[in-house]
Amino acid sequence: MPQCCIAECFHKGSCKPNSTNQDITIFGALLVGALSLVLLIIYNFSGQLLMNREKKQAKSREAAVRHARETAVARERWKTAKDIAKKHAAGLQSSLSRTFSRKRSLRTHESSKGGTGAGLPSTSGDQTTTNEAGGKKEDSHTDMARSTEDNPEKGEGVSVQVGGGEKKKTKGKHAHTQSQIFKYAYGQIEKEKMMEQEAQNLTFSGVISMATDEDIKKRPTVEIAFKDLTLTLKGSKKKLLRSVTGKLMAGRVAAVMGPSGAGKTTFLSAIAGKATGCETTGMILINGKTEPIRAYKRIIGFVPQDDIVHGNLTVQENLWFNARCRLSADMLKADKVLVVERVIESLGLQAVRDSLVGTVEQRGISGGQRKRVNVGLEMVMEPSVLILDEPTSGLDSASSLLLLRALRREALEGVNISMVVHQPSYTLYRMFDDLILLAKGGMTVYHGPVKKVEEYFAGLSIVVPDRVNPPDYYIDILEGIVKPDAKEPVNVKDLPIRWMLHNGYEVPRDMLQSASDSESSLRGERGHASGSDAGQSIAGEVWGNVRDIVGQKKDEYDYNKTSENLSNRRTPGILRQYKYYLGRCGKQRLREARIQGVDYLILGLAGICLGTLAKVSDETFGALGYTYTVIAVCKFYTLQSDEQ
Ligand SMILES: Nc1ncnc2c1ncn2[C@@H]1O[C@H](COP(=O)(O)OP(=O)(O)OP(=O)(O)O)[C@@H](O)[C@H]1O
Ligand SMILES: [Mg+2]
Repeated sequence: MPQCCIAECFHKGSCKPNSTNQDITIFGALLVGALSLVLLIIYNFSGQLLMNREKKQAKSREAAVRHARETAVARERWKTAKDIAKKHAAGLQSSLSRTFSRKRSLRTHESSKGGTGAGLPSTSGDQTTTNEAGGKKEDSHTDMARSTEDNPEKGEGVSVQVGGGEKKKTKGKHAHTQSQIFKYAYGQIEKEKMMEQEAQNLTFSGVISMATDEDIKKRPTVEIAFKDLTLTLKGSKKKLLRSVTGKLMAGRVAAVMGPSGAGKTTFLSAIAGKATGCETTGMILINGKTEPIRAYKRIIGFVPQDDIVHGNLTVQENLWFNARCRLSADMLKADKVLVVERVIESLGLQAVRDSLVGTVEQRGISGGQRKRVNVGLEMVMEPSVLILDEPTSGLDSASSLLLLRALRREALEGVNISMVVHQPSYTLYRMFDDLILLAKGGMTVYHGPVKKVEEYFAGLSIVVPDRVNPPDYYIDILEGIVKPDAKEPVNVKDLPIRWMLHNGYEVPRDMLQSASDSESSLRGERGHASGSDAGQSIAGEVWGNVRDIVGQKKDEYDYNKTSENLSNRRTPGILRQYKYYLGRCGKQRLREARIQGVDYLILGLAGICLGTLAKVSDETFGALGYTYTVIAVCKFYTLQSDEQ
């Protein structure tokens, strides 16, 4: 019936003089009807289409998590039982050796196998159960745990390793299906968790003890040294950053602090090679070489102050897209999944992994979770340098702590981390290795270990009162809110110059002029600085002899020089990335299909009106009206894409 109607309409629409208007209306009505039907189908089934896929994936993931946990528990039991058996065997061995010198080893072996239960402490229920199981029949997980223990290279089990190494790559190779990949990833994660537990949480001391573990895989390290880094706003000649000198080291977490508008974001942007609209002078050295920072952009993660997440994708989709596009093209899919899963775990995002991040119109995850996803987007690319602008702003202290622990764990792998942080709690503050304190105008007031900051300021007669958080006190002084309670009067304006003199840096003339008139004390400080041993100063520890190298190479450096990739990472090609991009767009469109379906329906109606109003003739079939509609639809679509 519809086919014959359409055929008839086509036939009718074949322009007989004075009868076309009616024919075109029928044709148009049918077209609109068909389009509405398509929109209706999309409206009702688009969500289901994505949901089915997600459900399937979630199911295999949950199964993998269960399996990994059971295996881990079994492994733990097996290990405990083995340890106890060994201990007992050793005790028995020594007592037997006194009386039965011959057949000692045989009897000991028998005792350890058959008689362990008798020797187990009665208080340990777990151990008794395990032992019983050992005596009779062990479950499959214990079996697997034992085989993994005995032969760590075999099976889908895992090795105790953080960071993904060659060993893991070979194992990941055997994981092809979705469930195999998840089993592999969660197996690894459970092992890593076990290791963390052994290292007593990820507290400071735990981190230190983990750091000594040989199994921790290091990423390629990048050390960034900068000398006299000065940023001047193009046009106005306003200086946003002035003669900043220092070094950011691999494996350390540095906090950048200072009053609002001091230049923290500007400083980090300059370090990441992202400063725009400014003229940059001074120089940056990468691993001691005069290479442009942009050549390393593939291994530099940058989390800006504003959100970079896609609201109409789930947490996992956001992370997975970045991992696929920015991790090495040679990396196995299983290892990429492992990286994403590890980030989800360490940022505590398991509960919301399948939730939409959310947009202004559609509420999604909480603000704190959103912040963590932002950080996760850069963590999944396994960067060597991670720069974050206020990742803890808006987070409660527990979430901030969780985030910093995750970052400290990254630092253990050799990542060079710097982040702007506002009003950290004392616990959080103590978790940083270094502090960069900036005064207004982008001048350094302190750059060195957190442990020595109080000592340095005490040397300037600035002593933190009891029960006051040191960074808060220093920032209040720099803001001018608090007058330092010092024996000798300290002029806040002089603090940047004092820092430079303290370390023997050359003070620019304009800075000296703008300083206060307490020149005599500054001169005294200068004399002291030049006379002191640079190696003894705080910056001397941080900066070391790099200062001399920088001095030699200063003239060769061109900040804006673009360069080829020097990071040794080969990311997927443009076509592959475009494919991922299309996949992401498709998902986003399907998610919005409901909203868009209504939009298109309205547009369709508008098109009908336009088409009806336009002058319809036999020759054109009202083409002008339809053209307007097509243009309107395209424009609307583009505007919507731009918004995202
Ligand atoms: N592109 C620009 N054009 C004009 N002024 C700029 C530009 N970028 C930075 N500034 C100015 O430089 C100063 C430092 O800005 P920046 O964003 O680095 O401060 P901040 O320390 O990060 O502050 P906050 O803690 O509030 O984020 C500000 O006074 C700002 O107005
Ligand atoms: Mg800022």
